[in-house]
Amino acid sequence: MGKLEGKVAVITGGSSGLALESAKRFVEEGAYVFITGRRRQEVLDDAVKLIGRNVSGVRGDAANLDDLDHLFDTVQKQKGKIDILFASAGKGEAAVLGEITEQHFDREFGLIVRGTLFTAQKALPLINDGGSIILTGSVASVKGFPGFGVYAASKAALRSFARTWLNELKGRKIRVNVLGPGPPIATRCRKEFSPRRRRRCSNP
Ligand SMILES: NC(=O)c1ccc[n+]([C@@H]2O[C@H](COP(=O)([O-])OP(=O)(O)OC[C@H]3O[C@@H](n4cnc5c(N)ncnc54)[C@H](OP(=O)(O)O)[C@@H]3O)[C@@H](O)[C@H]2O)c1
Repeated sequence: MGKLEGKVAVITGGSSGLALESAKRFVEEGAYVFITGRRRQEVLDDAVKLIGRNVSGVRGDAANLDDLDHLFDTVQKQKGKIDILFASAGKGEAAVLGEITEQHFDREFGLIVRGTLFTAQKALPLINDGGSIILTGSVASVKGFPGFGVYAASKAALRSFARTWLNELKGRKIRVNVLGPGPPIATRCRKEFSPRRRRRCSNP
């Protein structure tokens, strides 16, 4: 029997990369997973095929509150609960101090900080007591990689959220953890894309 037998997991950004590998492993361990992707329906469909069983793909932008409502309505209707929320949708765009635009700042904080916050808040009524929230941070939040100041600050905010949320949620025994991957993780994006497209996959 797997470690996650009977559990329901929601994994944002689960259509590729680290989160897809996690979704595969969750299913191998017995969970049912909902994975999301924002733009590329064919990538989401491929991911669902690759996982093969106990999976639903829900297209939606983790930075868009209506899309999050749609995601959690779908989970509510199909499974009625969440045991594991894995908020992983994120994208590292580079811009050095002096060249940072409002749009760059709003995109990074809009997805990683605002999007993650509302993902957790909207999921909360469905999360079982004793459940688990996992946020994908980055070593960038503590390393000071040149060009990734806004991304790093947004990932640092996740560590701060986690410290507050675990105190707020301890009465329900909901755990909150932040993963801190280090670059470069050899995701599908990095392995399969041309060098030019790979530069767009610049999550450090
Ligand atoms: N790879 C690394 O070396 C590394 C290092 C440190 C931290 N991280 C963090 O780990 C997480 C995954 O990184 P990765 O490199 O594995 O990513 P990836 O291969 O680029 O995959 C990102 C996934 O997230 C989805 N996505 C992007 N924006 C989204 C949005 N607004 N709403 C919903 N889904 C969205 C993408 O789907 P669509 O394209 O369809 O939108 C894609 O499925 C990110 O939070 C990243 O910051 C990665």
